[in-house]
Amino acid sequence: MRLLITGGSSYLGQHLTPLAAATGDVWYTYLHNDPLSQPYGRPLDLRDDTAVHHLITTLRPDVVIHTAGSNRIPDMEAVIVTGTRNVTAAAAAINARLIHLSTDSIFNGRHDAPHPPPYDEDAPPSPVNAYGAAKARAEAIVAAYPNHVIVRTSLIYGLQQPDHSTSWMAAALRAGKPVTLFTNQLRNPVWAHTLSLACLELAVNAYRGILNVAGQQVLSRAEFALRLLDWWQIQPRDTLVEGASLGGEWPLDCRLDLRRAAAVLTTPLSGVDEVLTAVRRI
Ligand SMILES: NC(=O)c1ccc[n+]([C@@H]2O[C@H](COP(=O)([O-])OP(=O)(O)OC[C@H]3O[C@@H](n4cnc5c(N)ncnc54)[C@H](OP(=O)(O)O)[C@@H]3O)[C@@H](O)[C@H]2O)c1
Repeated sequence: MRLLITGGSSYLGQHLTPLAAATGDVWYTYLHNDPLSQPYGRPLDLRDDTAVHHLITTLRPDVVIHTAGSNRIPDMEAVIVTGTRNVTAAAAAINARLIHLSTDSIFNGRHDAPHPPPYDEDAPPSPVNAYGAAKARAEAIVAAYPNHVIVRTSLIYGLQQPDHSTSWMAAALRAGKPVTLFTNQLRNPVWAHTLSLACLELAVNAYRGILNVAGQQVLSRAEFALRLLDWWQIQPRDTLVEGASLGGEWPLDCRLDLRRAAAVLTTPLSGVDEVLTAVRRI
């Protein structure tokens, strides 16, 4: 089986690509950065439909895992929406299976909404910000192609290099800038290793449609951040405060119902404390 990973340079991609390459025929793409520096990496701008079509129809992967595009990148809307449209069309041209990474941020996180959390796979998107709206549009594009899986996931963390939020917090704390940890934003943080294994399972199994894939343990962003600050031994913390978010910019309660994933996947969806305890023992 040949696998193509878009966004091999993403935080997730840097975990997923080496894991996949250890067992099979793998290619990955990046835009500006190639931290993996492997001969099977290729630069690709997903906004360029001709380039996307050319690369995918030349490599002819059996499976495309589409991780590229996040809330941190410039030209976010075009990369997420146009990029996903281009990847989906090219995958369809060669009948490749498409695994698309989505997010719990497609939901509004409100308890008074018609579909309140925890969100199962039937919950319709209700985004509150531009990132969530773009990811929801990308989902709709992917959903029109039959051989797809939309992986809705939550905050991604790794234990080899700090995740984006932890890196940002560390820099702000070292610079003496205020950092507020929200006590009322609920998430199911997922270990990048767990999510990578789940994506590789989905590459070869028969599941189609939306699947929530995240860690079983629900934590507030504050609880999660403090665990990772401890793990990375980040000091000082004088400018750290905990407080409630009013919920304007990011949704509050994005708990995911993981029962379907637990039935479909053999990969354990371990929560943060379970992962940290297990890794400390190694
Ligand atoms: N991080 C999280 O906590 C989280 C939570 C839920 C869902 N997700 C989803 O998981 C996936 C991975 O997230 P991440 O945080 O690991 O991503 P990330 O580290 O922010 O990386 C973004 C990726 O997009 C690539 N990219 C940007 N513009 C591009 C373009 N025009 N053409 C091609 N590639 C382009 C970047 O390439 P270069 O680095 O080469 O520029 C990079 O590989 C995303 O789909 C995201 O929505 C992430």
